[in-house]
Amino acid sequence: MTRSMVVGNWKMNGDKAQAGALISGAITSQAETEAVDIVLCPPFVLIQQVISGCSGSKVAVGGQNLNLNTSGAHTGEISGSMLSDQGCRYVIVGHSERRSLYGDTDTIVGKKAALADSFGLRPIICVGETQFERERGATNSVVERQVQTIFDEAGPGIFPNAILAYEPVWAIGTGQTATPDQAQEVHGLIRKLIKQYSSSLAENTLLLYGGSVKADNARDLFVMGDIDGGLIGGASLNPDDFREICRATQV
Ligand code: PGA
Repeated sequence: MTRSMVVGNWKMNGDKAQAGALISGAITSQAETEAVDIVLCPPFVLIQQVISGCSGSKVAVGGQNLNLNTSGAHTGEISGSMLSDQGCRYVIVGHSERRSLYGDTDTIVGKKAALADSFGLRPIICVGETQFERERGATNSVVERQVQTIFDEAGPGIFPNAILAYEPVWAIGTGQTATPDQAQEVHGLIRKLIKQYSSSLAENTLLLYGGSVKADNARDLFVMGDIDGGLIGGASLNPDDFREICRATQV
């Protein structure tokens, strides 16, 4: 794997002015760090602004979620075909906040990933254990179950178009990052799970780490063999920090 990827997950943050600053920052980062693919995932209402702002650059845009249906009576929801129609190329699926607050089960996540793929979107599928599960020594079994359900629902052929993001729930927004060794251990496991189906699928699938990645810890994480980049929440809202994180992929 030679290319890396850094995804900015803005969550429910940002307005037009802030989006403008983040777009310029991402375009600068993309220009100075050729070997990284940068993806911005703004809230739905800012997607059009980000897509037009990034046109002509290599920065790509993604949604943060998609509905399981294509259209119809689903007030407040957005479908994969709508994201694709707007010019998105990616969509985050199964973020732990969607899993814990909005009822996205493993099965729903697998189905959403398949649906995203069918609309020509690259799903960025999140997996990861809670603090309770880690303390019980269940990290590997939880991640295995989550990844297995993706294989069952979407088929291994969804990779390498799909991207997997390991995001330990206890590290998201807490400032408590997984150590590079902890993260590498789970990334190695995920790579092995994909390898059951094919070595080339496993080698070509991007595995991102997410959970309190900051400008000052990104390099230590990205240097690990199976970590191909990051899914960045809080630090993606600061153009300087995001730029440093993009630079840190060049290790
Ligand atoms: P964080 O969020 O970087 O703020 O921990 C990561 C994520 O939720 O994707």
